[in-house]
Amino acid sequence: MRIAFVSAEAAPYAKVGGLADVAGSLPQALAALGNDVTLYLPLHATIDRARFGIPAKGTTRSVPFGARSVRTSYVATVRDGVRVVFVDHPKLLARDRVYGATDDNKRYAFFCRAVFEDLRATKPDVVHSHDWHAALLIPLVARGLRKAATVFTIHNLAYQGRTSAEVLGLIGLPRARLPIEDPNECNPMARAIAIADIVSTVSEQYAKEILTPAFGERLQDLLRSRRRRLVGITNGIDTRSFDPATDPSIPSHYSVDDPSGKAKDKTALQAEGGLAVDAKAPLFGVVGRLVEQKGVDLLTAAAPRILDGGGQLVVLGSGDPAYEAKWKDLAKKYAGKLWLTLGFDAALAQRIYAGSDLFLMPSRFEPCGLGQLISFRYGTVPVVHAVGGLAETVHDLDGNGAGNGFSFSSYKPEAFGDAIDRAMKRFRTDRWTDLVRRVMREDHSWSASAKRYVDVYKKAIKNRARKAG
Ligand code: GLC
Repeated sequence: MRIAFVSAEAAPYAKVGGLADVAGSLPQALAALGNDVTLYLPLHATIDRARFGIPAKGTTRSVPFGARSVRTSYVATVRDGVRVVFVDHPKLLARDRVYGATDDNKRYAFFCRAVFEDLRATKPDVVHSHDWHAALLIPLVARGLRKAATVFTIHNLAYQGRTSAEVLGLIGLPRARLPIEDPNECNPMARAIAIADIVSTVSEQYAKEILTPAFGERLQDLLRSRRRRLVGITNGIDTRSFDPATDPSIPSHYSVDDPSGKAKDKTALQAEGGLAVDAKAPLFGVVGRLVEQKGVDLLTAAAPRILDGGGQLVVLGSGDPAYEAKWKDLAKKYAGKLWLTLGFDAALAQRIYAGSDLFLMPSRFEPCGLGQLISFRYGTVPVVHAVGGLAETVHDLDGNGAGNGFSFSSYKPEAFGDAIDRAMKRFRTDRWTDLVRRVMREDHSWSASAKRYVDVYKKAIKNRARKAG
């Protein structure tokens, strides 16, 4: 199959969140199954052309945008069997950030139209686009490239890209509005959901949750109407780059057969963060944005419980300024027990995954979550809110000792606190090493999920063929 995979971000070129990890590894897994995959990305100003060997020149095409026709270039490179095409337009696309520029809506609308122009020439079998930034490509393809099947993946329903209907005119889409839209509004994500041959999301559990008002972000009725075309496929991770046996970012390597290096990574992390070097202190790691979605309120409430209870905490992330301030205060109060780094540092993230005993993810909602999958790989036991992909992949250790982590169901500080207490208690038993080994044996590589995507593509192609008649 010839697949066009379209995303705003993909590792290693540009990474903000989990979408980049997926777009940076699923295409490779699909190519390994014998498919012909092209990944489309905007050429953000932050992408290091020299480092990635991205050529200066490529194919050029003229892209209709409003009344204008915009010369745009498509520069291509190949990575692990995947053709990567960067849409290059310095004025309309290149910003110093992937998200959060003032003209994001127009910028990503242009990106969709530009990708569409390339697809008209290359005629893929399937167009697979991700999240709101690539969502308007779905109606473009449905109207202008009727033979191509469309698949739209929701990574996070909370971001829909709602904007003025003006963008529709700019890229040549009719303004007819969806029942869910306000007058003069365009909701890119809703538009893709409404017409894609298949809509998917990143865990089976989240696929069910989004049909309810609590998680549907106002789109639950639309999603319910497309229920028969909605599937959940749980994300995998790139087990080659996330591998404690070879990871260049961590001081000591280890594996399930010989996990001894993990203790050294813990010592190194404690020393680096100015914490007491103590093998017996349960060390909790947090890597993620300090925002509501990620359960920062519960984390903040739980910190004293961990730190007064003999535990240690290493936090890497940034987010809501009010919470950043609270965490700065905590870090002062608990110096020597809590190490806080505001910002993002990919190598430090790896040292935290490797050096921690436990990993905290009390997310309010979580479409899939990759942190818990990475921590399994590094023998770090997750403590999670049982929601979305977290509920699907983390199973609480019951009395018999089965399971792979600790979880709690009701989103309340007491429930999280109880899970933390149980985790610290277990850590202090001689059964801990077995647990570390057990979680390291979990398989969350892409192999199973990539095959499921191939099935979804086949189903989408069938649907398309039937409709195109
Ligand atoms: C988004 C979701 C996260 C998911 C990731 C990749 O960041 O919030 O749960 O793992 O996308 O699909």
